[in-house]
Amino acid sequence: MVSLFSRESRVVVRPEILNLPAYKQGRPAPADAFKLSSNENPFPTPAWVAEAMAEAQVSRYPESTSRTVRERIAAEWACDVDEVIVGAGSVSILYQLIQAVSGPGDNIVFAWRSFEAYPWIATVAGAEGVRIPNLPDHRHDLDAMIAAVNDRTRAVLLCTPNNPTGAAITTDEFHNAMARIPDDVLVILDEAYAEFSHEPDIVCGKKITGGYSNLVMLRTFSKAYGLAGLRIGYGIGPAAILQAANSTAIPMVVTEQAQRAALAVLDHKDDAMVRVMELCARRDRVWSDLVGQGWSVPRPHGNFVWLPTGTDTDKAAEILENGGIIARVFPGDGIRVTIGEADSVEPFLAATARIIAADLQH
Ligand SMILES: Cc1ncc(COP(=O)(O)O)c(C=O)c1O
Repeated sequence: MVSLFSRESRVVVRPEILNLPAYKQGRPAPADAFKLSSNENPFPTPAWVAEAMAEAQVSRYPESTSRTVRERIAAEWACDVDEVIVGAGSVSILYQLIQAVSGPGDNIVFAWRSFEAYPWIATVAGAEGVRIPNLPDHRHDLDAMIAAVNDRTRAVLLCTPNNPTGAAITTDEFHNAMARIPDDVLVILDEAYAEFSHEPDIVCGKKITGGYSNLVMLRTFSKAYGLAGLRIGYGIGPAAILQAANSTAIPMVVTEQAQRAALAVLDHKDDAMVRVMELCARRDRVWSDLVGQGWSVPRPHGNFVWLPTGTDTDKAAEILENGGIIARVFPGDGIRVTIGEADSVEPFLAATARIIAADLQH
């Protein structure tokens, strides 16, 4: 194919954007392997989702505020409809919020390792991303995060359960952190995996009371509810903050199919939660088997496990791949493996046993 355009362009691009590598998606898997690299839901799309999507009138633009979805979520969370925002995935709401509160000269504090999009989002807004290393047990170092907050900080991102380490923040830790973060700094509680987390002492956005004026909680239909491909997530927070986030949104980005599918999920919540609980049981079994093999793996609270393979990560990932497991590899750090199809468990555990035998866990 002949290129239509000159390879070089003199168009001026912001230098920080030039230096930004493109967002890395979880690797696709060959036909004989399991794709456990994107924390997706492994179950087939339920008929009631497909039926709901089919009712969408695609020649028309969607309702721009996802009003009906927001009303349903507001009823579930017992809040005002203006305290709910819907976006094209929760990552899109993250972008909107960070664009709304920060720009050049500001900074955004988050734990590291955590969701890979965080540094991107800060940079795209023109702000500096401040990465605070996790504790040795893979939890957020909340004291260090709070110590890093300064008068240029516009947002603190708390990810619980944390992607990719699976560790969670307790209710006490959360309230303690909120008490120490200035109330003119936005706190985003990213709960993309909340539905997989059932320990009573772990913070749950739905149970937070205290009327924080600087808190937005993010949830998604992608993970527990299997709508990743449709792109729909939501946030709960003070109306004034959400209004600002709406101002930075791409208009009408949440399709009618996505809105209808989300409503169908809300109508079939019990059915959807049966599959979530099945994944949780599978995850707990995988975790205890890993511990039995000699792994020191943090207790997982999402739909994935974290293998701390440190400097041997590439070698360990190769063993997984040879065993038919495509995972998310963080060179020099570790490997995140999604809890996927039932049939993926045995090949995964066989591969992790080989990694232990090769003495590659750290
Ligand atoms: C911690 C966390 N937050 C947010 C998201 C974004 O999810 P979505 O945009 O599909 O709602 C993800 C997806 O991987 C995630 O891991």
